[in-house]
Amino acid sequence: MIHEETMLRIVKYAVKAPSCHNAQPWRFKIRNDTICLLPDFTRALPVADNDNHSLYISMGCALENMILAAHEFGYDTEVEITGNGNNPQIIVALHDEPEGVKPELFDYILKRQARRNKYRNDKVPDNLISELFNDPDDEGVSTKLFLSGNEMREMIPYISEGTRLQFSNKAFVDELVGWVRFSEKEAMLKGDGIRAGAMGLPNTGRLIGKIIMKYFISAEIEARRMEELARASSGFALFMAEKNDPYHWIRLGQAFQRFGLKAAKYQVSHSHLDMPCEEMEVRDKLINHLQLKDLTPLLLIRFGYSGPMPYSFRRSFYKLLDP
Ligand SMILES: Cc1cc2nc3c(=O)[nH]c(=O)nc-3n(C[C@H](O)[C@H](O)[C@H](O)COP(=O)(O)O)c2cc1C
Repeated sequence: MIHEETMLRIVKYAVKAPSCHNAQPWRFKIRNDTICLLPDFTRALPVADNDNHSLYISMGCALENMILAAHEFGYDTEVEITGNGNNPQIIVALHDEPEGVKPELFDYILKRQARRNKYRNDKVPDNLISELFNDPDDEGVSTKLFLSGNEMREMIPYISEGTRLQFSNKAFVDELVGWVRFSEKEAMLKGDGIRAGAMGLPNTGRLIGKIIMKYFISAEIEARRMEELARASSGFALFMAEKNDPYHWIRLGQAFQRFGLKAAKYQVSHSHLDMPCEEMEVRDKLINHLQLKDLTPLLLIRFGYSGPMPYSFRRSFYKLLDP
């Protein structure tokens, strides 16, 4: 039987995965040589993510970290995604593999981060683009790249429209405010959420932060800010699922996490411009415009070069274990 300490170390790396609003919507159950990764719907985002696709993408990211950590510690993994279509569970069984090759991407789990700052206009070279996006393991997932000025400009109206819709929706802003941590103390105590500094906001404390977000940041200001950030990117990547169901959302999360880790390896910054994928009427327009047919666009990522940002916090992983 695998030592409990090893299982806990694997969970410790799993929780370093990204998640929408850093909500960390997962729990873990350790049984003999298996770890079950379960959704935590108490941490779902009913407004920003009303079908839970982001929740399952986040779980896919955590699953990818678990697989890498297991290999790093000398175990092969067998992954089973069970349960009915709307409520899948992820079971990872571990088997001894002492001679297995150590996965290079493991080294970047702690270095990866979403960087919401403005990128320098420098282009990511073509050979690096192929390294970042040509991943043979991406079954069920497609990625479309926007690299030239024209291709990127084409996407700007969708980014603006998605942002305007989100930030003119009071319920969306209220939900987001609930996940922003307006002081370092609040961020550390909670161990989740988005640090104000990471969003370009000052550390004002919750009361003032809430007032700023609700009354001083208009949909128009936010749309312009997103356009500016988008324009300064080297390119965009649209991650799309071949079927719009939880299984494919999890697979997409795994593919996205591998991209994030490779980006960290090559010091390429990335961040989300998911608004056109999250607002259904904009998503439909995008599907039509890009003639995506059966593909569902779920994450729109900008990438380029910039300096590091403060790292986000995580909750203590041992509190996430089911008895
Ligand atoms: C499925 C998913 C959706 C996300 N959507 C957004 C988004 O719309 N805007 C954004 O700024 N960040 C988004 N993020 C990034 C998270 O906020 C970020 O991963 C989290 O705050 C933890 O920070 P880290 O990735 O630096 O560890 C998303 C992440 C995931 C996995």
